[in-house]
Amino acid sequence: MGHLERFVLASLLATVTTALDVVVVGAGMGGLSAAKKLQENGHSVTLLEGRDRIGGRTWTSHELGFPTDLGASWIHGASAQNPLTPLVTEFGIATVDDPDEQRCRYDKDGYKYRAWELASYESYCWSAESSGYAPTTGTLESALRDYDPAFFNTVEGEMCLATRDFNQGSTIDKVSVANIYYSEIAETGGPELIFLDGYNTLTDNLTAQFQAAGGTVVTSATVTQVNYCMGFSQGGERASCTATVKTIQTGGSATADYTANAVVVAVPLGVLQANAITFSPSLPASYTAAIARMQFGVVNKAVAVFGTDFWSAGCNNELMLAINKQNATIDSRGMFPYFMNTNRLWPGKNALTGFAVGRYAIASEQKTDAEVQADFMSRIRQQFPSAPDPTHFIRTKWGSDPFARGGYTTDSGINMEMNELRLLRQAVSASLTFAGEHTSPVWAATVHGAYQSGQRAANDIMSGAPSTSESASASVDARHSCFFLLFLFAATQVP
Ligand SMILES: Cc1cc2nc3c(=O)[nH]c(=O)nc-3n(C[C@H](O)[C@H](O)[C@H](O)COP(=O)(O)OP(=O)(O)OC[C@H]3O[C@@H](n4cnc5c(N)ncnc54)[C@H](O)[C@@H]3O)c2cc1C
Ligand SMILES: *[C@@H]1O[C@H](CO)[C@@H](O)[C@H](O)[C@H]1NC(C)=O
Ligand SMILES: *[C@@H]1O[C@H](CO)[C@@H](O)[C@H](O)[C@H]1NC(C)=O
Repeated sequence: MGHLERFVLASLLATVTTALDVVVVGAGMGGLSAAKKLQENGHSVTLLEGRDRIGGRTWTSHELGFPTDLGASWIHGASAQNPLTPLVTEFGIATVDDPDEQRCRYDKDGYKYRAWELASYESYCWSAESSGYAPTTGTLESALRDYDPAFFNTVEGEMCLATRDFNQGSTIDKVSVANIYYSEIAETGGPELIFLDGYNTLTDNLTAQFQAAGGTVVTSATVTQVNYCMGFSQGGERASCTATVKTIQTGGSATADYTANAVVVAVPLGVLQANAITFSPSLPASYTAAIARMQFGVVNKAVAVFGTDFWSAGCNNELMLAINKQNATIDSRGMFPYFMNTNRLWPGKNALTGFAVGRYAIASEQKTDAEVQADFMSRIRQQFPSAPDPTHFIRTKWGSDPFARGGYTTDSGINMEMNELRLLRQAVSASLTFAGEHTSPVWAATVHGAYQSGQRAANDIMSGAPSTSESASASVDARHSCFFLLFLFAATQVP
């Protein structure tokens, strides 16, 4: 082949590969972000979603007559570097700032901490890290209990551990101190914003733009199989690939196949761990090992509506109520240690949103709504003994939801190897790459991390080359600052 022919062929290939057909699996923030970016670059994108709604783990329910977020609530750190910040501005979305430092914390005797007491409690709760106590073996639970056996044996100590469970999205007896040491999780900084009309105003606006520009969204399409091709583009040339994505109608039996040049799989880690999607060829062994070892915990929410607001007079902000004295244990400390004062967002609706974390979050899914309501009220009545029963009560079961199978990724799980965590962020081949919060380098477990991962996945698909992102090759040399970073992250936010 002559020089000119080679040149013509190369440009032809380049032209052919300019407009790719891409299937994106999963319409959470990760999938939406990838779909939009691919489309903005001239590719033809079909977004397949198993549920009958968009948004995944951002889920605004209108069941109670006002918008209630049953998945993510906050933009954690809406600074300039957070990719969600400009979107909020672009779409003119109404948000309120929810400063952590104004939380009201009550002790087991009903005493409300003053500001300085709250600050000193919080700082003691995180003092193991800040004082440089850095064991390298064992679990976070055992490390903290060794650090101060007396404190962590009190109700207040157990409350601190519940905050840590919440922060990790798991019980901390499943978190490795060595992995925390190597964790690359970082803060974006900036205000903690809540969406007045719910998180789905953001995902709905993104979806509307995507569809208006010609993107296809198919809901109630459960993906069961992804057939893809191995290999990356050579010398900038992409080998042709016909990937096939097989779906079954959710709750039905109709099947459909979608063909594409490439596929972005943006389903939660829990769905990958359950092998709900068959890959052909099988994923490389390194990927299946990483998926199996990574840790995906459970966090749940419950929203109670009352006839009257009996709490705001004492605290017009988030409430941290003491654990029941009777059962301050690892099993029950996660039983609603934290309440969002939803009445602050929706005055007159008299709603409180409680968080179920740690072991209790998992155990609660086996309980009836009435049993979970009784647990919720036992925590409330520890502080407000004459609180009435709620008029409405709803709660989530993210762990048993087949499209989530958990809450969010714990980036320091006990079995995990940090190099494996980095692997999932690298394209498997020119025609298969993963997206979703579990593939975000420093912002895992968040919505902005999911968004960022989608942008990276789109770039991977477009380049067709092995990933070279800084994330994939990030060194662990920065570990000396990690404890400090973790401290910052942990002290300023609960996911
Ligand atoms: C209770 C709770 C509170 C949280 N609070 C916050 C918070 O305040 N701030 C924050 O930043 N983060 C928070 N998070 C985490 C945040 O919600 C997630 O990190 C983020 O939304 C994940 O986005 P994703 O695109 O990776 O996954 P998802 O949003 O889960 O999207 C994956 C999509 O894939 C679909 N899917 C799954 N299986 C299939 C299949 N087989 N076929 C087709 N489609 C499929 C799902 O239905 C879903 O729509 C919270 C999470 C929970 C559970
Ligand atoms: C986009 O966001 C605005 C502002 O919150 C909201 O009013 C509008 O309904 C959203 N659009 C869509 C399509 O959801
Ligand atoms: C904890 O104790 C309270 C009060 O005795 C009880 O109502 C609640 O059910 C207990 N919860 C658990 C999880 O044991």
